[in-house]
Amino acid sequence: MNQILVTCLLLIQASLSWASNGCVDLDGLNFDKVVKRFQYSLVKFDVAFPYGDKHEAFTYFAKENSEHLDHLLFALVGIKDYGEKENADLGKRFNVKEAFPDIKLFNNDSLNNFIDYPENLPVTVYNLREFISSNTDLYIGLPGCLKEIDELAAKFALSSNAEEMSQILSQIENLDSIYSNTEKLHKSFNVYLMLMKKILQSEKTVREFITSEEARIQHLLSGKLSENKKADLNLRLNIMKSFKTTKQPTQKGVVTDEL
Ligand SMILES: *[C@@H]1O[C@H](CO)[C@@H](O)[C@H](O)[C@H]1NC(C)=O
Repeated sequence: MNQILVTCLLLIQASLSWASNGCVDLDGLNFDKVVKRFQYSLVKFDVAFPYGDKHEAFTYFAKENSEHLDHLLFALVGIKDYGEKENADLGKRFNVKEAFPDIKLFNNDSLNNFIDYPENLPVTVYNLREFISSNTDLYIGLPGCLKEIDELAAKFALSSNAEEMSQILSQIENLDSIYSNTEKLHKSFNVYLMLMKKILQSEKTVREFITSEEARIQHLLSGKLSENKKADLNLRLNIMKSFKTTKQPTQKGVVTDEL
């Protein structure tokens, strides 16, 4: 009996796979009204019942960030080119490409000055995050990351020598009291410190260290682990990304523009 119920629920869930937590559905009647309320809106124009990797990346990204980004709205506009041609007017108004999905970043100063998500950039959570980071003033760290420390971690990664790195490390250590009251934040805080200490002790460059450490953790994650341990390792992976800046010293000292 229970099993039948579970199966039914799973079927219902599967058939609703386009329904997306964290995103609102917009149409011609509510578009301006809603989008104007938010400083930024990231809108995905797509078919009426989207599915697949790109849709999942978008909704995953929305779910991950809806709660803590008050000024960014995630929205979907489903366009039908048949029947009632729902939302075809919105598509026309914003020059939506026929090759769905077409993602646009709106700003409530003027709905006509939107920014297009680059056509050739794969729609992934990582790229969406980069897109928002580089086109808004919003901080959009990975879950578990700390804004202030992220900035210092990027500085650390770009440091030209161990002395500079140690200075940044002690600068961070001095911030301990800001985070020590909240268990979750303090845990993150300590992961940054632990990584920096390990990097300083290692012979590797920051990039080499992060690359090999990521591989090691991915490998650990592919094995059998408790949920707690997995969460810890995923937190470490997220925080390690803060050490990956687009500019990286190839060896301690030389900065190149590669990546
Ligand atoms: C733009 O959004 C911000 C909040 O994100 C809001 O305070 C402001 O009133 C909005 N502007 C308009 C014209 O509604």
